[in-house]
Amino acid sequence: MEEKVNVLISEEEVSARIKEMAAELSRKYRGRTVHLIGILKGSIMFMAELSKHMTVPVTMDFLAVSSYGSGTVSSGNVTLKMDLSVDIEGRDVVVVEDILDSGRTLSYVVELLKEKNPDTLKVITLLDKPDRRVIPVELEMTGFEIPDRFVVGYGLDYAEKYRNLPFIGALD
Ligand code: IMP
Ligand code: MG
Repeated sequence: MEEKVNVLISEEEVSARIKEMAAELSRKYRGRTVHLIGILKGSIMFMAELSKHMTVPVTMDFLAVSSYGSGTVSSGNVTLKMDLSVDIEGRDVVVVEDILDSGRTLSYVVELLKEKNPDTLKVITLLDKPDRRVIPVELEMTGFEIPDRFVVGYGLDYAEKYRNLPFIGALD
């Protein structure tokens, strides 16, 4: 069955906000190199777009974790599927994630990365669903706070579909 996708945040709005976020990050990290760590696969579009507009030196790495299965309900336990490729000790790390929902994924990732002794460790997300929080996570910055709806596009999927949509849509 085909699901219906309604535009929640347009392509123009998303790209304008990401440019603002890139400018703000570049100001905050002036004189330093930002080591972006994207959480696969949802963060890819956000990370690509954000990094293109950053004006400080940027390095990149990725982590893969599993949280959601193929549906819209979190499984509750998070496991590491792919580790970092370079050491982060002494680096200024910014974790880049598509969406903060229950907080399980990001709290797991933050604890994992803290043990590797980065110089600084911050988290940014494109979207935040504050109503759904189970575990608190401190965000440095977020693109948009959204209501409790299941969203797709701009990297976010439903059963691996819709990641390529250039806007944020609500699945209804
Ligand atoms: P959390 O661990 O519950 O905070 O969930 C975070 C992860 O769940 C994100 O990295 C997404 O992959 C996925 N997720 C949460 N909400 C949505 C949604 O509305 N659409 C698509 N994926 C979502
Ligand atoms: Mg994800």
